[in-house]
Amino acid sequence: MELREWATRILSADTLAEKLLEPGILTDNDPGSSLFWDEPTRPTGMHFNKHSRKDKLPKLPTLHKAENRAACLHRFAGHELLAVEIMAYALLAYPQAPKHFRKGVANTLREEQEHVRLYIAQLERLGMNFGDLPLYKHFWAYTPYLRTPDQYVSVMSLTFEMANLDFAPLYGAAFAANGDEQASQLMQQILKDEIAHVSFGWNWLKKLKSPGSPQWDAWLKALPPNLPPTRAMGPIFQEENRLKAGVSQEWIDNLRSSHLDTSTRTTFGDQNNLIVNDIEYPR
Ligand SMILES: [Fe+2]
Ligand SMILES: [Fe+2]
Repeated sequence: MELREWATRILSADTLAEKLLEPGILTDNDPGSSLFWDEPTRPTGMHFNKHSRKDKLPKLPTLHKAENRAACLHRFAGHELLAVEIMAYALLAYPQAPKHFRKGVANTLREEQEHVRLYIAQLERLGMNFGDLPLYKHFWAYTPYLRTPDQYVSVMSLTFEMANLDFAPLYGAAFAANGDEQASQLMQQILKDEIAHVSFGWNWLKKLKSPGSPQWDAWLKALPPNLPPTRAMGPIFQEENRLKAGVSQEWIDNLRSSHLDTSTRTTFGDQNNLIVNDIEYPR
């Protein structure tokens, strides 16, 4: 199947099975012209809801209750489905990008589909179906700023996926502490895959940025105005996971200190930020 057809089918899918379509052998002979998809079609019951305060994730100390762990897993499954769609968006948006880049996005998309399946299995174990709780637009709010591949890797790989290098171990530990070994192991698998996804973005930003421009400056420049650098981290900063992804020490130090920089700071727990983020920063 051509990458373009696969991506189009995912974005226009009105069933979850079609969103998770396994394409078999992929080809990229006819990438077409650039197409910036506005919003994906969604299966019945999986449309975007407006995010409000009442939709906060259960707090970490309440995860001894299976229903609260399921609510967290449901939210994470929602993020994975969004990642699937944004990667399909990228395949349609950047037909002229290097073939190797497009192939990498397609491989990552396949892994995100698998993440959705793995979360669904955990949800079902805990008695919940995917779609039982509200789903949010989240990443799609930024697609107007994803017009070039360097913007895509900066936002998707080096911000949202990078934040997961902090969130996945945080929730993995919380699930384990509450005796849910299976959910904890899933977070370990997600972490391992997301390290590779961050690495993809890091290596491609290096190739795509203007020569001579420091990687940190290139990343900041590519970020949308409503996405501060602090969105690339969770409440407990995991330096080692970033090093595993090949991120430079200098960049890591810049990111860590951006939390102290008032011009870029996001207050952890700030309500406006939570609504945009769709991610809670547990305290
Ligand atoms: Fe993922
Ligand atoms: Fe990912």
